[in-house]
Amino acid sequence: MKTYKIAVIPGDGVGPEVLTEGMKVLKRVAELDGTFQFEDTWFPWGCEYYLKTGRMMPEDGIEILKGYDAIYLGAVGYPGVPDHISLWDLLLTIRKNFDQYVNLRPVKLLKGAPCPLAGVEREEINMTFIRENSEGEYAGSGSWLFKDKPNEVVIQDGVFSRKGCERIIRYAFEVARKEKRSLTSISKGNALNYSRVFWDQIFKEVSKEYPDVKTHSLLVDAAAMFMVKDPKRFEVVVTSNLFGDILTDLGAAISGGMGLAAGANLNPEGTFPSMFEPIHGSAPDIAGQGISNPMASVWAASQMLDFFGHEDWGKKVLDAIEDVLVDGIAMTPDLGGTASTSQVGDAIVAKLG
Ligand code: IPM
Ligand code: MN
Repeated sequence: MKTYKIAVIPGDGVGPEVLTEGMKVLKRVAELDGTFQFEDTWFPWGCEYYLKTGRMMPEDGIEILKGYDAIYLGAVGYPGVPDHISLWDLLLTIRKNFDQYVNLRPVKLLKGAPCPLAGVEREEINMTFIRENSEGEYAGSGSWLFKDKPNEVVIQDGVFSRKGCERIIRYAFEVARKEKRSLTSISKGNALNYSRVFWDQIFKEVSKEYPDVKTHSLLVDAAAMFMVKDPKRFEVVVTSNLFGDILTDLGAAISGGMGLAAGANLNPEGTFPSMFEPIHGSAPDIAGQGISNPMASVWAASQMLDFFGHEDWGKKVLDAIEDVLVDGIAMTPDLGGTASTSQVGDAIVAKLG
């Protein structure tokens, strides 16, 4: 029997509630399959931990996590701890230390999920967003000169390395080739005359290795407009860290909302563990009430199954979410219902059979 060791970091706010449902689903999948199991270890790291210890995770946190097959993360951030501290010292540290350079975010309108766009068929929203996840605007490079003086200057660098651009663009081409879909690069070469001209050049170079993949290039502002006006033009999409962050929230808005948006932070080579998470925040306003939507977390669990090579189960879990949406009974308030977080988890488990 294969055992997958999962480091569960529920984090803050609604994180623990939604991951409880995700683990419930994963354990049911393992039970039904019978050839593998999950061994989950829960780490109480996050803002509460910070207020007690002065750290978001222990000093050897990264060392500890190295021993796991995957990380399952809930949400990070809570009033009382500045966001740039809570995020840089937990979520972003893990992404960086484990070189999780691919952030894979499906933007797919499931049957039964609400869509605010008029005149758009469900099938027309089906994108695979591949966000660069290790550098770009999130490199953490910059300086703060003359702090608190009248001549104060702040510089935040965008770091685009050849290695970093090539590997994410190549990864996206591989996905597009495998899925037999087009690849759209989203950039901003007209204004960002170093970083994005470089990105565009590398996109062109790498595309020569993939003559079978149809490509498009869009400026980020136009891409945002087309995601709303004509979402069907996007199939596989590759973009930089910050653009991908912003556009995947837009993607969530057109495909059921943040309660349905999942993301995988992948280290494709498997040198380090990958991390799976709902992309919504800790939602302090509704935390502890048991009404948060666990579907994004369950979808992230489905991505974990895919990554472990159990694509059949990954698909079954996604189908189960879709079945629950179509029934329209076990729906949390964000989807217009009155169901609790655990009722939704139970409904998904029931659909798995
Ligand atoms: C996300 C989040 C994070 C990001 C924040 C919380 C640092 O918005 O995963 O999309 O910007 O990457
Ligand atoms: Mn985001």
